[in-house]
Amino acid sequence: MSNREAETIEKILSLKRKRDGIILAHNYQLGEVQDIADFVGDSLELSQNAAKTDANVIVFCGVHFMAETASILCPDKTVLLPDMDAGCPMANMITAERLREKKKEYPKAKVVCYINSSAEVKAESDVCCTSANAIRVMESLAAEEVLFVPDQYLGHYVSTKTDKKMILWPGYCPTHVRIQPEHITKLRQEYPQAKAVVHPECKPEVIALADEVLSTGGMIRFANRQEVEEMIVGTEIGMIHRLRKENPGKRFIPVSEQAVCPNMKLITLEKVLWSLEEMAPEVKVPEKTRLKAKAAVDKMLEIGRG
Ligand code: 13P
Ligand code: SF4
Repeated sequence: MSNREAETIEKILSLKRKRDGIILAHNYQLGEVQDIADFVGDSLELSQNAAKTDANVIVFCGVHFMAETASILCPDKTVLLPDMDAGCPMANMITAERLREKKKEYPKAKVVCYINSSAEVKAESDVCCTSANAIRVMESLAAEEVLFVPDQYLGHYVSTKTDKKMILWPGYCPTHVRIQPEHITKLRQEYPQAKAVVHPECKPEVIALADEVLSTGGMIRFANRQEVEEMIVGTEIGMIHRLRKENPGKRFIPVSEQAVCPNMKLITLEKVLWSLEEMAPEVKVPEKTRLKAKAAVDKMLEIGRG
């Protein structure tokens, strides 16, 4: 670590204390950002942590919808996203207006919305889910017909685990669709002992080749198991940092160096420091939207992890 980086970290930690702040970071963040966080986790764990923290300021090292979810749950806290351009392209593949139109086509359907969506879209939905609890959320619904937005691939994976009729929105994650079946097949030949673990945002033909389909938090727990010694990791590359850090004796093989989410990488230590200094940029959801979105997020939190 350079002197400059050490100095930045020292300033971040001292300012965080002064502001009564907490730093939450997603598993895809840059390693140095994960290392200064109070908590690192998947989307569900991060929203659970945001909901229970008593800190006044939440510095969210992730993408916009994650900071927005924290703001939905904690309206009295200041939620900072160190780079406002850190969005999620998948979340931008649907708008509340287009969802309202679609709902008219399927008046009997319940709307399940992946947490990778805007507050406005959540406000139009019956319940949220993450990759960690999508199947369980689906099982909790009495309805036989479900409009699932916006990730068609997570939706497709869930549809293979339920008898409910699912209407899938055609959204997708540009990072996870870069992962190809050939990546897994080739690595399986090279590392025949390794477990192949993929994220449910991957395409069905990739999922079909996996031993396990897990959220990023699920991958961490799986890797911690004693019997797992080698793991082919089918998700965004940032995941490798924590897996290696927590399991020094094990081998983690990324499926593709191309699986990078450029939005996640926009958050840097310098920007974290700047956001604490300026107390900006702040993410805040208008109250009317917040209350409707909160109902969908709360329902998901009651259900918990799958
Ligand atoms: P997790 O909830 O599994 O961490 O996934 C979030 C995400 O954005 C995946 O691309
Ligand atoms: Fe969105 Fe994909 Fe990046 Fe996750 S990895 S934040 S789904 S673009």
